[in-house]
Amino acid sequence: MKALILAGGKGTRLRPLTHTIAKQLVPVANKPVLHFVMEQIAEANINEVGIIISPETGEQIQNSICSGENWGFKTTYIMQHTPGGLAHAVKTAREFLGDDSFLMFLGDNLIQGGVKELVTQFNANNSDALILLKEVTNPAAFGVAVVDSKQRVQKLVEKPKAPPSNLALVGIYLFRPIIHSAIDRIKPSWRGELEITDAIQELLNMNYNVIARQLSGWWLDTGKKDDILEANRVVLDEYAEVRVLGRVDKKSQIAGRVQIGSGTEIVESVIRGPVVIGDNCRIVNSFIGPFTAVGSGSILEDVGVEHSVILDKCQLRQVPRLEDSLLGTGARVNRKNSRHNALYLFLGDDAEVML
Ligand code: TTP
Repeated sequence: MKALILAGGKGTRLRPLTHTIAKQLVPVANKPVLHFVMEQIAEANINEVGIIISPETGEQIQNSICSGENWGFKTTYIMQHTPGGLAHAVKTAREFLGDDSFLMFLGDNLIQGGVKELVTQFNANNSDALILLKEVTNPAAFGVAVVDSKQRVQKLVEKPKAPPSNLALVGIYLFRPIIHSAIDRIKPSWRGELEITDAIQELLNMNYNVIARQLSGWWLDTGKKDDILEANRVVLDEYAEVRVLGRVDKKSQIAGRVQIGSGTEIVESVIRGPVVIGDNCRIVNSFIGPFTAVGSGSILEDVGVEHSVILDKCQLRQVPRLEDSLLGTGARVNRKNSRHNALYLFLGDDAEVML
């Protein structure tokens, strides 16, 4: 069994962050989403991994994962020159995949409990594909499946106007090599992409059997800003632990599960977990509230913040209340003491400000 991670794509919905960073490398609880994916695959005892990369962000992905030996993997990088869809990515990886069964994992998706159990079930079973489903309230936004009482998949539709069920396809799939024949038979969809949903539907048309498993725990698809905040909340809630490596002065108060990296100084501040603060930060006269991640090298002075993700090397001064915010690397937010009630903005392309 091999694993194929999809870490190409355009990431348009996460601009402006994705002008400079691959979306799979955006950190959740101060760790890139892709690293969680690598961990979950390693737990499933798979040791050969192919990673689909794009020309725009491929180098960043390679610099972050390197040889993959940190996770015990033999890693192959596969360049997808244009983001032609999930099935196109599989086609691009044809040589790497050979005649092996494989786990396909979208590099910006995470699920509670990982994939170990799923891989074991698939290996012990003779189905031709296994898909993972999750009940959602807005199925029209996803690939949707219809299953029978024995969890055999009957039909799949991509982003249906009239959804036939509320079961969305989670970005994790298991395939036997017959999927390649199905991909060879499909045509690009209306949006010009080779859709994996169409390929799985084609397997059904060819009378192969596809089974489904329903996920009861959380599923995080980190494609948009609010998804990142939600992922940060869920991951901090589940994984944050008390670990203080930096220096906390006597006038500060730390409550709940708070991680403070080495070289970080907390001065006259209140930190209420779950919170993670990276290395070499300086937090002065501030309140850092639940579900906040602060990247390394950031400086916060006279700031109140909660439910936010602040990447590395940010500087915030005199910002009394910041919520539900996502700040890219090196962002600066300051107060200017002037008489008129004006805003002074210097925003990058596709930036968003809510007043
Ligand atoms: P998507 O989120 O569907 O696509 P995208 O990354 O282009 O994002 P946006 O819609 O915001 O422009 O992709 C899911 C995952 O699959 C993501 O990790 C990127 C990856 N991917 C590829 O590797 N190759 C592809 O051709 C596509 C479409 C996605």
